Amino acid sequence: MANDASAVFDTLSPAVSRGSLADSFTPPADSTLWRKNFLLGAATASYQIEGAVNEDGRLPSIWDTFSAIPGKVLAGDTGAVACDHYHRWEADVEMLASLGLEGYRLSIAWPRVMDAAGVPNRKGLDFYKRLLNRLKEKGITTFVTLYHWDLPQHLEDRGGWLNRDTAYRFADYADLMSRELAGTVDAWATLNEPWCSAYLGYGNGHHAPGLANDRFATQAMHHLLLAHGLAVPVLRANDPASQKGIVANIGRGTPNSDSAADQRAAHLFEVQHNAWILDPLLKGSYPQDLFELWPGTEPLVLDGDMQTISAPLDFLGINYYFRTNVASDGAHGFRDVPLEGVERTQMGWEVYPDGLRDLLTGFKKTYHNLPPIYITENGMASDDQVTDGHVEDTQRISFLKRHLAAVDQAIKAGVDIRGYFLWSLMDNFEWAFGYERRFGVVHVDYSTQKRTIKRSAELVAKFLKERKARA
Ligand code: FCB
Repeated sequence: MANDASAVFDTLSPAVSRGSLADSFTPPADSTLWRKNFLLGAATASYQIEGAVNEDGRLPSIWDTFSAIPGKVLAGDTGAVACDHYHRWEADVEMLASLGLEGYRLSIAWPRVMDAAGVPNRKGLDFYKRLLNRLKEKGITTFVTLYHWDLPQHLEDRGGWLNRDTAYRFADYADLMSRELAGTVDAWATLNEPWCSAYLGYGNGHHAPGLANDRFATQAMHHLLLAHGLAVPVLRANDPASQKGIVANIGRGTPNSDSAADQRAAHLFEVQHNAWILDPLLKGSYPQDLFELWPGTEPLVLDGDMQTISAPLDFLGINYYFRTNVASDGAHGFRDVPLEGVERTQMGWEVYPDGLRDLLTGFKKTYHNLPPIYITENGMASDDQVTDGHVEDTQRISFLKRHLAAVDQAIKAGVDIRGYFLWSLMDNFEWAFGYERRFGVVHVDYSTQKRTIKRSAELVAKFLKERKARA
């Protein structure tokens, strides 16, 4: 979750040392991760890796516009070239396959495949067809996200997600994609992280399109969820064999003290980060506490919308990164109280694997209809350097190992979790943080586009090989 990075940076925990970690990366013998049907893969997103923003008829997206505004993205970076994946996709697929990764989660750039009148762009469509066909040939399970934040600019010019019509345009886009790509997609996710699109895009303006108003955030969220709900039956009709779902980022909020006010603050934090999205999807209503936090921001909801939004899902994608320690702000809400002496990543995010386990087990209790879960993103940024052709990303190895252990614990506690995707396959354009923050298990040298497999990816590959050999 590309969030405020104002939190303090701390030194790595002393437990994170070289050597020992590498040896102990492999999960214990009783771990559910040894099950062959637990899918292990990696994820990326179109704007973060593709580049080629002006090629083959691609139209501008809100991220082209936003990143061109001075001060919006660190160092003035943009996705114009990114990892040049649009041209290097074949080698990238080879790399994915060579690591033995079983699943690949990618996203489609809406402005690449359709024009403002809804006319398909063949060249853009062909790119995804070639890519998905190759992945299929390699036996890689494909998870395709329709919307990972690169809204066509022409739709933003008409109000973007504040305009209800965008939800209907999204359903048209889902219709085209599922007619064109049926048979090559194992799982469709309508949206990636509507919280980020709605809140960071329209609530605090840290992301494109850069608007900042709580009322906008709740209305944008409603239209995003409506877009999802309208798209699901279309995907089902056009591509019945695939799974249909949505990807949500979730946040753990813990209280800074035992006081009732801080406990309430932590609750409200989780309402704002989790229930705001999951309640409409799984209960068919918005959590009323949200409007205690943001009084007077109720979105305009038309008859039937909540039913559309809460249509059954085949899976729920969960993205998890960190926890936030909060206290009451003395009024309706919460404020962050960064903990000292805890392990943090290059983003300033606290490493807190228990949060993943606790949220998942909590959701199982709260939502009786919780669909099967895939962890569609988890990972961390570190300032990785290539030394003698190697990248020793020690903290990431430890991070992945501990989060996979948290997933195992949640499975053993009864949560139906079917897979895990590393964020990310390779270093890429990290939104408002540009290229400085490196989330990949593969290092990218942006001056040469050379990819270097990091030690973490080697160890994941080693585990996957061992698991295959045992099956
Ligand atoms: C998530 C986004 C993903 C990436 C990670 C670090 O919020 O879905 O694109 O930026 O955070």
